Amino acid sequence: MKTKTIFSCQNCGYQSPKWLGRCPDCSNWNSFAEEAYTESKQAARPAYAALSDFSLKPEPVLLKEIEKKDDLRHKTQIGELDRVLGGGIVKGAVVLLGGDPGIGKSTISLQLSNQLSQTGLKILYVSAEESVQQTLMRAERLGILDSERIYVVNQTDLSAIIEYIKKIKPDVMIIDSIQVIFSPDISSSPGSVSQVRECSNILTRIAKSADISMFIIGHVTKEGALAGPRILEHIVDTVLYFEGERYSSYRILRAVKNRFGSTNEIGVFHMGSGGLEEVKNPSEFFLSERPQDAPGSVITSVLEGTRPMLLEVQALVARSSFGYATRRSEGFDYNRLNLLVAVLEKRLGLHLENEDIFINIAGGVTVKDPSCDLAVALAIVSSFKEKIVKKDIVIIGEVGLASEIRSVIQLSLRLNEAQKLGFKQCIIPKNNLDKKDSYALELTGARNIQEAMEYVF
Ligand code: TYD
Ligand code: MG
Repeated sequence: MKTKTIFSCQNCGYQSPKWLGRCPDCSNWNSFAEEAYTESKQAARPAYAALSDFSLKPEPVLLKEIEKKDDLRHKTQIGELDRVLGGGIVKGAVVLLGGDPGIGKSTISLQLSNQLSQTGLKILYVSAEESVQQTLMRAERLGILDSERIYVVNQTDLSAIIEYIKKIKPDVMIIDSIQVIFSPDISSSPGSVSQVRECSNILTRIAKSADISMFIIGHVTKEGALAGPRILEHIVDTVLYFEGERYSSYRILRAVKNRFGSTNEIGVFHMGSGGLEEVKNPSEFFLSERPQDAPGSVITSVLEGTRPMLLEVQALVARSSFGYATRRSEGFDYNRLNLLVAVLEKRLGLHLENEDIFINIAGGVTVKDPSCDLAVALAIVSSFKEKIVKKDIVIIGEVGLASEIRSVIQLSLRLNEAQKLGFKQCIIPKNNLDKKDSYALELTGARNIQEAMEYVF
């Protein structure tokens, strides 16, 4: 048995016999770490040996003879989570749940275990980071002590975990977290790319062959990527990210990849004293702290997946004290902000060159929907000119380079949401204006930013 070392990129898993300053694959700097690996064919491979009981070699069958199964999904009974998963967790599917430490990954996993166990499923919760006592404390806090059918174990050795799977035969499994699980077949340390890749591969094979739905928890580095397991994203079926500020109580669950559903859906949660609670009406939630009659505050209606959401866009335009204007954006694309500022300067003749501009989407949401452009542009103008946008107006529209307002999709969904929350007026793209529709809202079509400004101010 020969032990060699190899250098692997801790971001993407690229391997090289010598150390490299920059990864040729993912272009990350200083991401290589030395890992030991054993080159041996005969050596005992406990994790692989333990695998032998799972039928890994299914025979090919004729397409027309494949048995049709109807109940392919387990409903987690947590509406927001089911939505993001595309209607529940698919049997045999592997879901990666990523997010910063402390954001609530363990909490939601335990809540989900409880919900699923009540539908009669058997759960194996591998609490690899925390002792069973700590898990018990969390369960107490969540008020789910009487849950039956939830098995908890504090174990990091993959071959032992496989033995538990054989014994308990769970329907659903939680691995909390993949970064501390190690396969004894590999000599590199837990959390290294080789370990994470190997363990996830084995776990995925077990999930598929034994029809176990599996949630694998992974931590995220400060750069926003999963620590090491970017490779993991390719192995699993679904990747969910938990977002939100650590010191705020909002939590947003977003699907980045989903083989069994859409990746546009988001789930909104609120971290309370009894765990994560679903936020059924996010718009109300996001608007709850809106300042009254403040310049720079504008409401827009964006679409996240199939769900419309009202958000508050805040802009602050202030004279720069350094002669070098800064632009900052939270929740809205920075390049898009610069583009809008350029449009406002060039087409509307606003002198923003010496102004610092800050944009914030209240509530810590990140918007990708371009229909929010007009609201951002008007928020900037509102703050710059110190003019208030009336509080019952909703602004919707994408802005083009000639300051024209382009039409948006699914207008009726957005308008219904605005109507539901008691808004009275809505500025929309002229092209979207359809005389046939009737809303309790007063609709105004605008062709460009100038027109929209006339109506608003
Ligand atoms: P946790 O699920 O342990 O985070 P992760 O597994 O992602 O690291 O969440 C821990 C945080 O959540 C911690 O700061 C305490 C807080 N929390 C509550 O506010 N209410 C609760 O009911 C629970 C269980 C945790
Ligand atoms: Mg945890």
